[in-house]
Amino acid sequence: MGAYGNFGRSDQVSKRRFEQLIGNSTALEAVLEQVERVAPTDSTVLIQGETGTGKELIARAIHTISSRCGCPFVKLNCAAIPLDLLESELFGHEKGAFTGAIAQRIGRFELADKGTLFLDEVGDIPLALQPKLLRVLQEQEFERLGSTHTHHVNVRLVAATNRNLTQMVRRGEFRSDLYYRLNVFPISLPPLRSRREDIPALVAHFVDLFCRRMGKQIEHISPETLFALCSYPWPGNIRELQNLIERAVILSNFGVLPNPLPTAAPKDDAIIFPAATTLRDSERALILNTLEAVGWVIGGTKGAAAKLGLKRTTLICKMQKLGISRPHLGGSQEIIEPSPPEPVSLSQ
Ligand SMILES: Nc1ncnc2c1ncn2[C@@H]1O[C@H](COP(=O)(O)OP(=O)(O)OP(=O)(O)O)[C@@H](O)[C@H]1O
Ligand SMILES: [Mg+2]
Repeated sequence: MGAYGNFGRSDQVSKRRFEQLIGNSTALEAVLEQVERVAPTDSTVLIQGETGTGKELIARAIHTISSRCGCPFVKLNCAAIPLDLLESELFGHEKGAFTGAIAQRIGRFELADKGTLFLDEVGDIPLALQPKLLRVLQEQEFERLGSTHTHHVNVRLVAATNRNLTQMVRRGEFRSDLYYRLNVFPISLPPLRSRREDIPALVAHFVDLFCRRMGKQIEHISPETLFALCSYPWPGNIRELQNLIERAVILSNFGVLPNPLPTAAPKDDAIIFPAATTLRDSERALILNTLEAVGWVIGGTKGAAAKLGLKRTTLICKMQKLGISRPHLGGSQEIIEPSPPEPVSLSQ
């Protein structure tokens, strides 16, 4: 990927275990640590997070690094199935169980036996069906619709939702007993806007992916484009980023990635980027310009760290690695240990 640098995960062990999960922000690392802890157990996991934050990827990662990985990973999106069919999708039915049941059907719990069942959008399971789900989670047994024969299964459940289940419990829309049963090990995925340091690596990853798919080559991402991508709030999170990069790769000419965002100009047009050719240079330029824009204030709500979505200590560490220091120190602002004036080399 050459010209736009290597912003992948620095931790080689994590890289091997979670190679599809790009990013090495503190927030993502904390999530992956939880994944590594819970995966080998059989405990139920509840993944919460905004749309597009990677809940399904995390669910698959839990299955892949668990001892169940040789057995099926079965997925059911509870929001995508009409309510009257959901029960049969989960537990199966016998021929003639209801109008239209022209043949016997195996449900997802049976299909996932010895493996993992991923119930996506679990907040959409209707109240009437919730006791039956609670029973199978507690007893690992159920009956197909239209049958009195009890089936025993060994299924590990991973559930996900972008709805606020505690609020739903308070409003009486979700049973509290089922909520507590699901919430054994909650994992909360942070939105992309609160882990902006992952954006350059994700951009590089998706540029690579779509270039390979489309047989194109991108040699250059301008610092302005990268800055715009790093500043955007990403309401659709990683899915939105992925789709915008796909569009940008389609529109790219002469090896340059165009800015796919609708409003290209950053708010502060006093920001001027020095010429930069690699993504690492771009990161340096982004930090430098943000520091200049906020008068070299590092911490606090209006400081550069908050603007860049970084912890204060992470920003200081990056500045030291990049050799960024304030030209003239003064006043009450933060002092960074002196470092060489202009080295450009960056090692993550
Ligand atoms: N850390 C990551 N690295 C690389 N790709 C990611 C990462 N997180 C998410 N993605 C990609 O972003 C897209 C959305 O992820 P996913 O479907 O897991 O989100 P979700 O949280 O389940 O969203 P929704 O709530 O809308 O179902 C997928 O294509 C996924 O591969
Ligand atoms: Mg999903």
